Amino acid sequence: MPCLLDVHADEARSLARMADDIQRGLTGSPRMLPPKYFYDEAGSELFERITQLPEYYLTRAEESILRDVADDVMGGLRPRDIVELGPGSCRKVRWLFDALEDAENVRYVAVDVGRDSLVQAVTALADEYPWLHVHAVVGDFERHLACLPLAVGRRLALFLGSTIGNFDPIPRRALLAQIRRLLGADGRLLLGVDLVKDRDELNAAYDDPAGVTAEFNRNILRVVNRTVDADFAPEKWRHHAFYNVAASRIEMHLLATEPQRVILRKLGVKLDFDTGDGIWTENSYKFTRESVEAMLAEAGLALEQWYTDAERRFGLVLARPVESA
Ligand code: SAH
Ligand code: AVI
Repeated sequence: MPCLLDVHADEARSLARMADDIQRGLTGSPRMLPPKYFYDEAGSELFERITQLPEYYLTRAEESILRDVADDVMGGLRPRDIVELGPGSCRKVRWLFDALEDAENVRYVAVDVGRDSLVQAVTALADEYPWLHVHAVVGDFERHLACLPLAVGRRLALFLGSTIGNFDPIPRRALLAQIRRLLGADGRLLLGVDLVKDRDELNAAYDDPAGVTAEFNRNILRVVNRTVDADFAPEKWRHHAFYNVAASRIEMHLLATEPQRVILRKLGVKLDFDTGDGIWTENSYKFTRESVEAMLAEAGLALEQWYTDAERRFGLVLARPVESA
């Protein structure tokens, strides 16, 4: 079955938007960069390497839940329309496809900002599941959900990997409310959430001794260099990740290892950094069942099923829209 591909925001417009985000982020206080810009081709590959690290338990834990519950979830729902936000390599959804009965009528819509990695992932998926109707959408799921193709039947939205945790509470609520609108009356959301746990275990997952997460973090500087013709020297930046207990989140920063001036030529901006000055690149919030229920309720969703892995490191939530919302 041939894949359909929609591209929202042409190259020029998305580059202009990225340049705006970079300017706002790096000239504000604190200096920050949006984590969605990690995922150029190199960043997507580095993320895939992270998922295989012994310390990064999230992917293995979530896949173990999917393996255990896929039959129940798919047998109970029988969705005709599966929409996945930020599928990355599209690896996890395979557990759900393998559990489908009556699979020939199912459409899979995958929305991701990373064009090249998305095309590669859905092409491999379409080869493996020749009966599947695949519709890839290159876009920003914070901006483009309203432009998705209309549901062809009961819809299951997938938001896996705890990517929801990369959003601060206010944008997170807005995103979940948009996802709720995608579901219609009888749709469901399957949401992956990383759980609050021992601080050392969390710190290790985001600061591996092999330095892959550090390289992933520094890669965002290469993305900035390319986008706004800047001259960041990634080797002059140190990866710093730690669990902030009060905020229930891992914070990732880049810290300057020496004083430096960076020029963003396309923006006509010069930035001076002293040793130890930082750029905040990512938050990764950790949840409890209670905090998940509260977050869903704020967006007009209710928890229907709560699954965890054997070690209770990761949660997979089936949520339904609340009628009156
Ligand atoms: N779901 C996969 C991949 C997680 S990595 C897993 O669980 O392993 C996060 C993915 O979300 C990347 O593929 C990234 O390109 C995508 N992403 C991040 N922010 C996005 C945004 N605002 N819009 C669309 N895709 C986004
Ligand atoms: C995609 N996202 C859920 C990952 C996370 O764990 O927050 C991104 C990541 N950052 C560092 N390692 C992995």
